[in-house]
Amino acid sequence: MAIRTIRERGDDILRGKAKPVAEMTPRLQTIIKDMYETMYDSDGVGLAAPQIGIKKRVFVVDVPKEDGESDKYTMINPEILETSGEQEGFEGCLSVPGKHGMVKRPMHVKVRAQDENMNWREVEAEGLLARAILHENDHLDGILYTDLVEGDLLDNEEE
Ligand code: NI
Repeated sequence: MAIRTIRERGDDILRGKAKPVAEMTPRLQTIIKDMYETMYDSDGVGLAAPQIGIKKRVFVVDVPKEDGESDKYTMINPEILETSGEQEGFEGCLSVPGKHGMVKRPMHVKVRAQDENMNWREVEAEGLLARAILHENDHLDGILYTDLVEGDLLDNEEE
């Protein structure tokens, strides 16, 4: 396993459309392990493959829950099936270091994705987990939260 370099805003790879994953390979298994390690090293709750320079439709999320557990998912070839409701909150991104901004997102999401065994499963999420899934899914289509931010992008020190 290894910590990979996180690509930052301005890097073209963050603006492309990532390609579907056809099959699980040892190389992809390593990439996914590295994505978790890189995310945890930066105290993130989500990371998408393009953020480490891999143009594949894969992201990982690990969102803390109130009971001390966490919701951890590897999502391959994700498809957003349904969204509903609305939430507003501050969002940041490991590819936009030192910044945050207000982003409106659906409160609930239903997503279909393949897991690390390439089995399809559906996940229903709300709140922070829904926000993280939608944020990471956007990365696969070249969208950054800074495209959606309401008002100014803020420096973290200003909070
Ligand atoms: Ni991000």
